Amino acid sequence: MIKVAYASKTGHVEKIINKLGLTDALKIVDGTEKIDGEYVIFTYTSGKGKTPKPVERFLSANPEVKAVVGSGSTAKSHIETFNYAAENISKAYNVPILAKVDGVGTDEDMARIRTELEKL
Ligand SMILES: Cc1cc2nc3c(=O)[nH]c(=O)nc-3n(C[C@H](O)[C@H](O)[C@H](O)COP(=O)(O)O)c2cc1C
Repeated sequence: MIKVAYASKTGHVEKIINKLGLTDALKIVDGTEKIDGEYVIFTYTSGKGKTPKPVERFLSANPEVKAVVGSGSTAKSHIETFNYAAENISKAYNVPILAKVDGVGTDEDMARIRTELEKL
């Protein structure tokens, strides 16, 4: 299975990682972490559709990203920039978005992400 790195500020992405049983996933804290080889990144979106700074830093230092999974919010205040971090990363690194979920996602989301991860 491909490696996974993730960033989580308020715990939703971490819950997703736990639900998927990705016990070896690397947690991005300040973006100075290193991962060897190809990986999938899981990220939240921060203020007004921004990619979190630690995630940007991590990606610059570890450019072998192969795909992205986003957790955002469909709340009225965020819907126009729903999962923009995943969109930004997808465009910047030319990689597919495996899923864009709301918060911790649904069981269906988890099943889809699992299937997509297994294909990589
Ligand atoms: C200040 C702030 C700004 C946010 N902006 C967006 C946004 O522009 N688009 C979006 O989809 N979600 C946005 N969100 C929602 C988070 O990305 C979402 O809750 C995500 O599940 C958080 O993941 P985490 O709990 O792992 O940090 C925002 C949340 C906060 C607190």
